[in-house]
Amino acid sequence: MHDASSSNPHLFVIFGVTGDLAQRKLLPAFYHVTQQEGCEADAFLLGVGRRSWSDAEFRQRAKDALGAAGIGTPEGNGWCNEHVFFHGVDDYESDESFAGLRARIEQIEREHHLPKNRIYYLALPPETFESTVTGLGESGLAHSEGWTRLVVEKPFGKDLETARELDQLIHRHFHEDQVYRIDHYLGKTTVQNLLVFRFGNGMFEPLWNRDRISRVEITVGEDLGVGSRGGYYDTAGALRDMVQNHIIQLLSLVAMEPPTAFEAEAIRSEKVKVVRSITSIVHHDVVLGQYADGSIDGEPVQGYLSEPRVAPDSQTETYAALRLHVDTWRWHGIPFYVRTGKRLPARTTKVAIVFRDAPLPLFRAFKDHPVPNVLVISIQPDEGFDLFFEVKTPDRDFRLDTKRLTFRYQDQFGRIPEAYETLVADIVAGDQTLFVHRDEVEASWKLLTPLLKHKPPVAPYEAGTWGPKEIYDLLPDWVDFCLREPAEADEGGSA
Ligand code: BG6
Repeated sequence: MHDASSSNPHLFVIFGVTGDLAQRKLLPAFYHVTQQEGCEADAFLLGVGRRSWSDAEFRQRAKDALGAAGIGTPEGNGWCNEHVFFHGVDDYESDESFAGLRARIEQIEREHHLPKNRIYYLALPPETFESTVTGLGESGLAHSEGWTRLVVEKPFGKDLETARELDQLIHRHFHEDQVYRIDHYLGKTTVQNLLVFRFGNGMFEPLWNRDRISRVEITVGEDLGVGSRGGYYDTAGALRDMVQNHIIQLLSLVAMEPPTAFEAEAIRSEKVKVVRSITSIVHHDVVLGQYADGSIDGEPVQGYLSEPRVAPDSQTETYAALRLHVDTWRWHGIPFYVRTGKRLPARTTKVAIVFRDAPLPLFRAFKDHPVPNVLVISIQPDEGFDLFFEVKTPDRDFRLDTKRLTFRYQDQFGRIPEAYETLVADIVAGDQTLFVHRDEVEASWKLLTPLLKHKPPVAPYEAGTWGPKEIYDLLPDWVDFCLREPAEADEGGSA
């Protein structure tokens, strides 16, 4: 939300900088943020990892990472040479590691006249969070004469109990206003636009309730499988990996009441009320699945059980569909259907708002299956929205067809910043609006923990399909047509 454009000298310390997240997302995002006017000279990056690389070796890797993100320019290379450093540690536990790190941080700050403004970004495997937070606290790195911020990646715990433990540990060393819990979905322009769409336009809010809406569907589909993350994923599954965080955040933004101000506290307190209003989840409202062999875009893909580092008899869900009930004045009786899965036919994230039918079925004689008005907010990859509605065709026979009004970010604005770019800029600027408050984390774990402790069995689904057939028992008429792009969907003449 912030452009971080005023000079804000600091040292950005990435723990786990040799990992995939840091290389693919954080380095390019940080570079983009530092290139905003006024920031170029003041932002320095210290990568921390369990390697014995020199600064020069790491700088080469940073250049490669920028290159892979399409920003391998002479300016980018020059920036790496002057603003990027590496510090190797043996582990994330010992006092020596943190004493050495502290000395290195202070040395860089001295040499570059930095005012001890520090960001610690934990891009680490969850099992090292605890020792790293403790190490930062006990070595005196949690506070400084400038400002100090701690950024924690998901997963934030693996259930209510572990999330609370992690939270207590963090608060032993850091204040809540220093803590930035990342849910990268909140950095997506289209996710933030949910607020603008709802509260910045007078025409939608009067329709946004149980009187005009019959149901809401949220789909987060991925065509990729678990790839090289089988070890982590097999202990997490779709409920922990996607529902507890990303999907609950999307749902909160769709269902929340208007905040009293466009400020972090006001927005987060409305979101958390939504999560607390969701009634307990019963098995009857849940379908879990696991992908079996299949094909995507004509290419054969292997099933989950054949993925590296997945237990051969794993019961971990790679798909979850749930019917949720947000029991508030606005939404009582209106189901929220959410579904997410890996190895589906396409990568697509959509929110479909399904409106009630017109009260009089005047035109039933002209169309057997009238389609309700649906507003589809497309979070990715075709960012924008579509409103589906009925029109009379120009034919001499009186006929109806479903057509769409379409808005695409790409057509209007060109490049959309990466979610991590927005979030890094906000961390630098000290804006917590797009970060998850401890209460939100706790509320969503409270909702999901009973289900995680007693999960229904997983049903297999063929890779390259939209999930197990049981999801049609949950809801027979998912608005699947909205998952296709306008060009494909309109080919047959109707949506
Ligand atoms: C991550 C999950 O948080 O989000 C991954 O751990 C998932 O499993 C990813 O693939 C999806 O993010 P995006 O931005 O590609 O929708």
